[in-house]
Amino acid sequence: DSINLQEIHDTLVAVAFEAGRMILAANPSDISTGTKMNSADIVTETDQAVERMVSSRLRAAYPSFSFVGEETYIPGTTTITPAPTFIVDPIDGTTNFVHGFPHACISLGFALDRRPAVGVVYNPFLDVLYTGIRGGGSYMQRNASLSKEKGQGERLKLPLAGGGPLADLSSALVAVEWGSQREGENFEIKARVFRKLTARKEDGGSMVHSLRSLGSAALNICATAAGQVDMYWEGGCYAWDVAAGWCILNEAGGRMVSGNPGEWDPALDSRVYLAVRGASSGQEEIVEEFWKVIGDGRME
Ligand code: IPD
Repeated sequence: DSINLQEIHDTLVAVAFEAGRMILAANPSDISTGTKMNSADIVTETDQAVERMVSSRLRAAYPSFSFVGEETYIPGTTTITPAPTFIVDPIDGTTNFVHGFPHACISLGFALDRRPAVGVVYNPFLDVLYTGIRGGGSYMQRNASLSKEKGQGERLKLPLAGGGPLADLSSALVAVEWGSQREGENFEIKARVFRKLTARKEDGGSMVHSLRSLGSAALNICATAAGQVDMYWEGGCYAWDVAAGWCILNEAGGRMVSGNPGEWDPALDSRVYLAVRGASSGQEEIVEEFWKVIGDGRME
């Protein structure tokens, strides 16, 4: 059977709104948090409850498809195969969620042959929905839950921000994240990258305009797709952080550049992601310059 991406998109949008209602209804004082790898790697009961709801809805609607979720991922066991696969982060930006910083989202990706085919990212706090369908474009919708035509809204067509294509690295607004790995070589690499990006050049100019951290990989990628930031770099992401945003970015005309684009096996993937907005003639050079400035920004 042929796979109907529009129908999958519509299902994911409905599930995203249901997840959003659960996230908004969670009383922050009831949120009991646990930690996974370390004290900065937080999981809440809401993350787990949302993933249970999402997986039961998607398994019921598409029983033959695979499902990979952040909270049920087993290192060394869970793999992403070429089969039709939902790739889900129930709350991307859990730290923000716990602190009440209104940048957290549900990130619902769908991949075919390990390539992003549908992406739905919904921030229930700001009621902003980002969606993308391979070959069908991507959209940003504000007041999304109030709209009758969910998943429509403004077509994302880069370059948008600043009125034109990204001119050079020194005028770029760059999103970066610390993530939760703050030890050893990974910490050193991040600290070095941030230092290099904020250093003064010999001529007194800046390497980039400035750095931003939204605290959610998916929302950083969507911000790149919407031209609100020019680039997003992070070392240490997993497939569920990037799968949905990746589709939205591609369809907006942006590009994901990384050590192993499309290779999502955490054992093989360097897990370094660089999202770049809009195609411009000088984009290759800007990306090259970025890699040169940060040096070897690969993570373990
Ligand atoms: C995290 C967030 C954070 C990023 C981490 C992610 P989570 O996801 O996206 O911004 O720096 O790499 O793991 O744990 O909130 O789902």
